[in-house]
Amino acid sequence: MRTLLVIGTGGTIAGSADRPGQTLGYRAGAIPVAQLLDGVPGLDGVARLRTSQPLSIGSEHMRAAHWLLVWRALRDGLRDPSVDGIVIAHGTDTLEETAFFLDLVTPRGKPVVLTGAMRPATAAGADGPANLLAACHVAADDDARGRGVLVAFDDVVIAAAHATKVHTIRTGAFAARDAAPLADVVSGNVRWRAAASTDDAPARAAFAGIEPTDALPRVALVWQHVDCDEAVVDWHRQRGARGIVLAGTGNGTMPSAMRAALAAASRGGCLVVRASRVPHGPVVRNAQAEPAERDDALGFIAAGNLAPLKARLLLQCCLLAGLDAAAAQAAFDAIG
Ligand code: SIN
Repeated sequence: MRTLLVIGTGGTIAGSADRPGQTLGYRAGAIPVAQLLDGVPGLDGVARLRTSQPLSIGSEHMRAAHWLLVWRALRDGLRDPSVDGIVIAHGTDTLEETAFFLDLVTPRGKPVVLTGAMRPATAAGADGPANLLAACHVAADDDARGRGVLVAFDDVVIAAAHATKVHTIRTGAFAARDAAPLADVVSGNVRWRAAASTDDAPARAAFAGIEPTDALPRVALVWQHVDCDEAVVDWHRQRGARGIVLAGTGNGTMPSAMRAALAAASRGGCLVVRASRVPHGPVVRNAQAEPAERDDALGFIAAGNLAPLKARLLLQCCLLAGLDAAAAQAAFDAIG
């Protein structure tokens, strides 16, 4: 039988409410992860379990200092030869960000699986126990090795780069953005849809040795909209932003004034990524009719298939790794 380390971080999965029918207004992160595992029927037949509880918060409060604690607990589990896989129980609100950040800075090998819940642990029909059970099935599965950090939710397994929270209330809260799920968990069996891919391994090598700190490079996310004030770009620069991701319209498009502000930031050494606020489809490099507006001319990076939130994290890692705009574009091409 495999041995798994289950890391508790809080969230609704560890939430406690006053009434079984109450699924809003509960206390997130109130129940220790060891107690949650005791309440999962059949888990003792899946793996031997150890636990670690580096924090217990609602994930909307997540900051780099919290990630550092989670990363250290994960690193200890990865280094421990008696641990075969790791499950991280996490609030759903920022789960996709933690998953992708850890995916970027963790060498591929042992399975690492994040899960959470939409209903607190005290709810009638709580989804946490089923999600924990499925996540442990995935983390104990040999075929999960080498696939990077995974998200297991509602019996679907999704790569961290694609995992996206798509519903504020429902238990099927996560989907794979512009990709198929990697696997389904059916009656305790993990049914993989394809073999693990190592295509992006060379690009990921630049990040796998990164040791996170509690002060990650400042990267701002700017959401383009009608009447968006481009002065926000300078404001972020003055606050110390070393990177800016624009969630642009359409194919990462923007009005002239925003382009000028971002071009000035780029000339000043800030890495600028063009992403899109549209939920599906890639942002294609150099697609502008005017040569002077193309990414090549302005030094911009095209986000490819990465959503703005994920693009922001990859840009942070590019800055941590000391990549310039050209090397960062190569990383986006390979990983995005
Ligand atoms: C949180 O993200 O911690 C609260 C919401 C949730 O887990 O669903």
